[in-house]
Amino acid sequence: MEKKPLATNTSVLSVMEKLKLETKANHTQTEQVSNMKRLFATDYSLAEYQQHLEKMYGYLTGVESALQQALDDELRTVMQARSRRAWLKQDLVNFGLTDEQISALPVCSAPAYINSLPHSLGAYYVLEGSSLGGQVICKHLSQHFGEAVTDKLHFYQGHGEQTRGHWQQFAELINTRFPDASQPEAAEMVNAAQLTFDSIADWLKTSSV
Ligand code: HEM
Repeated sequence: MEKKPLATNTSVLSVMEKLKLETKANHTQTEQVSNMKRLFATDYSLAEYQQHLEKMYGYLTGVESALQQALDDELRTVMQARSRRAWLKQDLVNFGLTDEQISALPVCSAPAYINSLPHSLGAYYVLEGSSLGGQVICKHLSQHFGEAVTDKLHFYQGHGEQTRGHWQQFAELINTRFPDASQPEAAEMVNAAQLTFDSIADWLKTSSV
């Protein structure tokens, strides 16, 4: 029987695949920042983990509202509902921080490179994707610290077993809005995603809070 030719689009990258491919090096670099690597150190302490969460909170607080402003109303509602910032705050509360102490934490400056909807979605690709690595981190920390950390893992636990499905919904949203990876918006997304990885790495390298 004659072989059917493959559908033409199977060899074409989706925007999500393009994002993954073109930010691979940035992901590796961010993973290698001491503040992230220390999460897996044998002598990692709860005090260090608290400082790490404070840094992540300062980053999300500074960046998320700028990202939301660059979206249209429909996407803003979707992305606001996906935010993990409240879970991060809950972890800090469970570390004993008061609302006043949390409000006084250093906040990262809003990113100057976010001035379009594709930029915002490119940056969200990084924040959303970090929930996948979060599963690895959550599993490791719960083994490392045991019960002492159970109520301080909301941020990294995220949607738990539903994390991959949740990520898939985000991927579909991007691929539906931007079905062609060769359109200029895809390049804008990649550019913003690369800068976002770098900005997180830079922020984590600044002295601890
Ligand atoms: C030590 C820290 C980290 C580890 C161990 C880690 C690990 C992982 C793992 C296991 C995946 C899933 C790969 C797959 O199954 O497809 C992933 C994906 C991802 N991570 Fe990380 N990660 C870390 C830190 C970060 C950080 C800090 C960010 C950004 C803030 C980040 C952003 C992403 C993104 C965007 C993806 C999705 C890649 C894609 O499929 O398109 N990760 N990471």
